[in-house]
This record gives sequence, structure tokens and C-alpha cells, in this order.
Amino acid sequence: MTNREQQLADALTTEDLWRLMRRRVPPVVSEYFRGGADAETTLRGNVRAFQQSMTTAYGALSFDKLDMQTTMVGHDLAVPWYIAPVGSLRMLWPMADAVASQVAGEFGTVMTQSTLSGTPVEAVTAASQGDCWFQLYLCGGRETALRGIERAQKAGFTALVMTIDTGVSGLRALHAKMKPMQAVAPFGGLNPIDKVKLAIDKVKLAPQMLPRLSWLRDFYGDGGAMEFVNVVDERGRPMPYADIGTQLAASAVTWDDLTWIKDAWGDDKPLIVKGVHCADDARKAADHGAAGVIWSNHGGRQQDRVPPVLHIVANEMPQVKDLPLDFMMDGGIRNGTDILIALSYGLQAVGLGRVTAAGIGAGGHAGLTRAFQILQSDLDRAMRLVGVQTVAEIHERGAEIRRESELKGDGHLPPIVF
Ligand SMILES: Cc1cc2nc3c(=O)[nH]c(=O)nc-3n(C[C@H](O)[C@H](O)[C@H](O)COP(=O)(O)O)c2cc1C
Repeated sequence: MTNREQQLADALTTEDLWRLMRRRVPPVVSEYFRGGADAETTLRGNVRAFQQSMTTAYGALSFDKLDMQTTMVGHDLAVPWYIAPVGSLRMLWPMADAVASQVAGEFGTVMTQSTLSGTPVEAVTAASQGDCWFQLYLCGGRETALRGIERAQKAGFTALVMTIDTGVSGLRALHAKMKPMQAVAPFGGLNPIDKVKLAIDKVKLAPQMLPRLSWLRDFYGDGGAMEFVNVVDERGRPMPYADIGTQLAASAVTWDDLTWIKDAWGDDKPLIVKGVHCADDARKAADHGAAGVIWSNHGGRQQDRVPPVLHIVANEMPQVKDLPLDFMMDGGIRNGTDILIALSYGLQAVGLGRVTAAGIGAGGHAGLTRAFQILQSDLDRAMRLVGVQTVAEIHERGAEIRRESELKGDGHLPPIVF
């Protein structure tokens, strides 16, 4: 067994995988995956809300078998989680989006590929034995988006996820201060003084790069700083790598856009709206032909000080019972009990953002496989100890199995690792 294989086998929680990822990947890269907006109140809140939620446990029960299957916008999933779109995943591992879709397929679930990805869409669907979803940003404008939709359809994606919470980019200050663009910027075209300045910025990164030569080898072996290969202009040229703020500012979407996007995507495969915070927007999504809605605050990376997603779910789910939609959520899911509690509000499945980054960054295929194994055994234990056998039963008995904590403060809660 190699050292890495041993470390992955020893990992028992997703937090262990996150730590492995941070050891392997330089901070200038891993901070992009960690960070949240502004003071990161919402980022921490997403995790704290789960830590503060409790369940009951019924004793003297023994089940031969559990069934984790669920159905989401016409897709049958073997486990009630899917991979949420995470941009620039390929910074963590060669062809990371294809690696992620392969693992998702092996576990009978779905991978959602971000528009802001360095891996061709065709490679992502080819790697999976299951279904893949394509997440759309309007970077490059309408014509570019229409080319992207057509290409995603040809590549075999089975749902389109439209993210609506990125009218501008949130401020992720710590990462911005690390000057990530200087790390990948080329010297070509600069005057001699700027060349020297850029060289100094790059040299400053040496202390974090030198202990991480395996990452450097993988990164440059995979072609180095990626282009956004699925965002192509009318001459077929991919969009060069640029900072995410610029990308998101150029991709604001409105409800009117949803009309032509839905027309272009067609009626035979579902449209899902991601980044919904309130029942009103869920209703608008249904009016615009969506089949599913993802409650999400973008992992605390957009508007800081919005409530934790779990609280959004608890408040809004009772108000959307009449809508013909399937509901999912993402934000703060770190273990199997989190998944059980989220599902108890009637959700069909939950999305994994940073857990995906933890697994892929810790060890590619083997790392993400380990993350999924951990969640599977976590959820298995939680279902047996609480006393539920199926996702349908979690839905039916949701209010009965949840408990409010009567402990005040957060001194009893574990530290937030990510
Ligand atoms: C590094 C990173 C990149 C992300 N990129 C995208 C993206 O390209 N498109 C999108 O819709 N959401 C994106 N998200 C948001 C995730 O899809 C998801 O909403 C969020 O990560 C869920 O919170 P969690 O990380 O606590 O699981 C990103 C999140 C992270 C952490």
C-alpha cells in the first residue's frame, strides 16, 4: 500500500479528507475551495446549523437491509446525495471533473459539472456509467450559452442546472489577498518592470509549493492553468482562465433569461434552478418550467449573512407543498447524520460541494471514493440508530425523528474544520 492509500484508508470522516487535501494542495489553491464571502458568517452558519440539529433514536431495532435509494427529477439514485457544481475542480487533480463523474456513476448517483470547468463536457459524460447534469452560467452572453447548451445536450447531460445567485461575485477576501491570478499569469507581453514584479510574486509562492511537489507534478502534467474549455466563442476558442469575480459579473441571469434557456434546453429533460432562498423564488422557478429547485446559498460564498441553508429549508419547505417540484439542498453537509436531518424535511437529495473538493483533492478517484464510502457508512449507521429503513420513511417520519437542542451556546459543538 502506498502512503497515500494508507492515509485514505485511515480517514474516517470527511474532515480527515479535508486535512489531507490541504496537506497535498498549496494554500493559494485550497483557499479557493475553502473560502466564503465577507466575514464567512453564512459559511460557518451552514455547518453550525447541522451541528446544532438533533435526532431521536429508537432502541431495540435491527434491520437486515436499508434502502438509500431516492428519485430526483426523474433520476433514480442509489444514494440520496449528488455532486454539486464546483468550478475549477481540475486545479485539484488531473481531469478532476471526469474523475468525479466516474465515482458518482460507480455509486449510482449524479455529478453536476460547472460551466467554469477545465474538463471537456464530453470527457465527463464518457467517464460516468450514470447520469450527469450540466450547470449553466451565462459567461460570454446568450450566444455562448446557447453553444454550451447544445454541446451539453450532444454530450448526453440529462438535466440542466441554472444557478441564479451570482449576479455579482461574493467577496472572498482571504483568497483575493493571496493573489491567485499572479500564480498562474504568463510573463509574455509584460514590460521588464512588470516581469520582475510578477517574478517576485511567483517566488513568494515557493515556500508553499516546495513541500507539495506531487501536486505540482500532477498540475503541470495535466497542462497547468486551465482554460474554460466548454465556454467557447463563435470561432470555437475557449475562454482563457480568468478570476472568478470577472466570470460571475459577466454572467448575471434574470427570470426572463430562464424563458429562452428553457426553450433551448427543451422539455424532454429537466431544468433545475439552484440558489433559491425563499418560497417566492421556488414558485417563480416552477412558473418558468423548472422540475426541481435546489435550496442553496452557494456554500456561503455569495451574500454573507443569509441564513444557513438548513434553516431556509425548515422555514420554506412547508410553504411549497403545492408546487410541482422536487427539492434538494446543498450547504454544510459533512456527514451522514447531516444528510438524514436534511432529508427529514422532505428533500429528495443533498448536494456536496466542499466534500467533493476534499475527496478529489486528497486523492482523486481513491479520495472521492473514500468520501462516498464514509458518507455511506455514516448514513447507514444513522438510519439504523435512529430507526428508519428508507428515504420515504425519513420523509414520512421527519418531524417525529428530529429534536431541538436545549443546550444554550455552542461550547459543546465540535470545531468547524471546513
Ligand atoms: C470552490 C467552490 C466552487 C463552486 N463553484 C460553483 C459553480 O461553478 N457553480 C455553482 O452553481 N455553484 C458553485 N459552487 C457552490 C456549490 O455548488 C454548492 O452550492 C456549495 O459548495 C454547497 O456548500 P458546501 O460546500 O458546504 O457543500 C461552488 C462552491 C465551492 C466551494
